[in-house]
Amino acid sequence: MLKRFTLVAVVFALLAPSVFAASPRINYLLYCSGCHRPLGEGNPPNVPTLHGELGLMMSVPEMRGYLARVPGSAHAPITDAELAEVLNWMLEQFNAETLPDDFKKLTVDEVRAARAEILADPNGYRADFWKPYDFSEYEKE
Ligand code: HEC
Repeated sequence: MLKRFTLVAVVFALLAPSVFAASPRINYLLYCSGCHRPLGEGNPPNVPTLHGELGLMMSVPEMRGYLARVPGSAHAPITDAELAEVLNWMLEQFNAETLPDDFKKLTVDEVRAARAEILADPNGYRADFWKPYDFSEYEKE
């Protein structure tokens, strides 16, 4: 009994600050990790990784909004402010090495505007303004 209480108390202590603040990490786990996996590695070639390349894309203006325009982001049942936080969190957690030095966080206004223009063909947009996905290393397996 005591053991169980301790466990509950520890789990609560770990989660409480994040849950009450609806932290970006929790929102990521709730609304993105089902497809992109809890650590963001995705399941290529079906679901892309969120590591590395997104940071590089941030030097292209059209690709900032892209992050909020892909269907998985645009449709997530969270507010524009929460989505902006999730995307900035995702960039910092998974792309710290590749973000440009002068990177400015996505703003709520920017995310609101982008999100309203959901992409019907995200892969086509990505190929036009950035590069097509390169899944060659997975396809070999
Ligand atoms: C139902 C599965 C699913 C969910 C949930 C999902 N995604 Fe995705 N995501 C995908 C797929 C599949 C793609 C590839 C483009 C496409 O087909 O939409 C993608 C593409 C992306 C990309 C572009 C990656 C690149 O390299 O171009 C980003 C960024 C992204 N998702 C972020 C998110 C975020 C943030 C969330 C949560 C708010 C989320 N996704 C939720 C499946 C999902």
